Amino acid sequence: MKKFYSFNRALGISLVFLIFFNSAKAQTYAENGMVVSDNVIASQVGVDILKKGGNAVDAAIATAFALEVTHPEAGNIGGGGFMVFLNSAGDVTTFDFREKAPLAASPTMFLDENGKIKDNSNHKGLLAVGVPGTVAGLYLAHQKYGKLPWADLVKPSVELAKKGFTMSWGLYNAAVSVSDRDPSEDIMKDYFHGENGEIVKPGETWKQPALAKTLKLIQKHGRDGFYKGEVAQEIEDYMKANGGIITKEDLEKYEAVEREPLKGSFNGYDIYSMPPPSSGGVALIEMMNLMEEANISEIEFNSTAYVHLVAEAMRRGFADRAEFLGDPDFNLDMPLDKLLSKDFAKKRFENINMKKASISDPAQYGHPYDGTNTTHFSVVDKDGNAISMTYTLENSYGVKMGSSKLGFIFNNEMGDFNPVPGETTTTGQIGSNPNLVAPEKRMLSSMTPTIVTKDGKPYLVIGSPGGRTIINTVFQTVLNVLAYDMRIDRAIEAMKIHHQWLPDRLLYEQNLLSPDTRDTLEKMGHTLIPTTNIGVLMGITYDASKKLYTGASDSSSEDGGVRAY
Ligand code: GLY
Repeated sequence: MKKFYSFNRALGISLVFLIFFNSAKAQTYAENGMVVSDNVIASQVGVDILKKGGNAVDAAIATAFALEVTHPEAGNIGGGGFMVFLNSAGDVTTFDFREKAPLAASPTMFLDENGKIKDNSNHKGLLAVGVPGTVAGLYLAHQKYGKLPWADLVKPSVELAKKGFTMSWGLYNAAVSVSDRDPSEDIMKDYFHGENGEIVKPGETWKQPALAKTLKLIQKHGRDGFYKGEVAQEIEDYMKANGGIITKEDLEKYEAVEREPLKGSFNGYDIYSMPPPSSGGVALIEMMNLMEEANISEIEFNSTAYVHLVAEAMRRGFADRAEFLGDPDFNLDMPLDKLLSKDFAKKRFENINMKKASISDPAQYGHPYDGTNTTHFSVVDKDGNAISMTYTLENSYGVKMGSSKLGFIFNNEMGDFNPVPGETTTTGQIGSNPNLVAPEKRMLSSMTPTIVTKDGKPYLVIGSPGGRTIINTVFQTVLNVLAYDMRIDRAIEAMKIHHQWLPDRLLYEQNLLSPDTRDTLEKMGHTLIPTTNIGVLMGITYDASKKLYTGASDSSSEDGGVRAY
């Protein structure tokens, strides 16, 4: 009865809220800059920084901290991610702040005496937590390319956490669902609760005093506010008390890394994306190269030939991902030049049979588990600087544990390592060497923050959450814009498929693929699985002739939105 009452009350309040905040999901235009994220409050924080004279890097940092407060299922300081940065001169760089395995980690740390994964421990409980990288990554990006003082970028989030913000319907639903938790998960005990002891309702103000205190320390001390001092001490104490292995030494040793981007091309456009330890850029560029081999202008969007070809490109991209990729600091012989070359794509393309599905062979390669929740945002400024950033806690609300003294949730990113050395299964778990656990190693990711340029200017800034589906969601959206000339909102909303080599099945967004096409694809040997939604894209395009940015957020993001300047 109480639940029913809360539901109706919540619905009433949230309807007003949604009409006000969430009315536009189509295109938005801007001349001076734009932020597109999974939460409109965070997008506004970023745009306010642009208005104060900040550049895209500053706005991205402020947006990232704000998402920790307003979109805690994936926005984070307890996880990690990747940033791609295009500057106004046309130069591109990237920041890797992927989590690392703790010093006490080992390749068999998740196994019982029979060599089986013990109690899902690579996803559940504090052994699943990687050493967080987000604060180090944002701080490094700021030191290298920021314009406004660091304290000014963290300040809006300190205020948001302290004074609170209006609980949305989407966040409330998630709060109810994760608070009805497995008793082994603490989700910081009464994280979502107000002073009356109940979960804060939509339309009411949600305050996070513990998080405000942690953010204040980061605001004052920068990187050291998280990796040293009282926050580091509390992380170590909390880990020790609850079965975790992360220590102050792990935190102190963590370093974010600036890396050269991967560069590919498609029909005259340049594609920049993330190198390993994300697999996203390699797979995206390899698949775009395969599509360049096809006569795409003669293949109708959403036709049988389109779905088949795109699925076969995905199958090959994911097989190579599984065989070769891992942390570059541990895998010095990854054949990146080969995987990214047009010659390799030509050979890979030759064995695509346009009449028949290929077979994925688990005896050769496979694919690791990836979580499904992550968040992406895109930022541009008046000078043509652009940021594409994806970061994550791995699963929605990560490991669903954290110290209530610190007010943030830890990731469960250790689940992205190959958990059982040598064991590859048809369900998609693999055991190949490049991505086995080792102390201080970064686990392989699928995050694919991407910037496409034309003549050195931003053309498309794009990315998505979605675990393994990220790569394919970004791939199809880039293809939609570059090959099918779709507007950004249509490219984002258009039908998506997902094939990841293993398991050998083709997911498609139901109701968006005709029965005839499905029937033919099945006859060609594809195993089709309907799904409701693939990806939550946040994208911006730039029209250099009109000097105009156009942004769109995926309609599947309940609180997401574009804010323009
Ligand atoms: N945890 C999802 C990814 O990194 O791909």
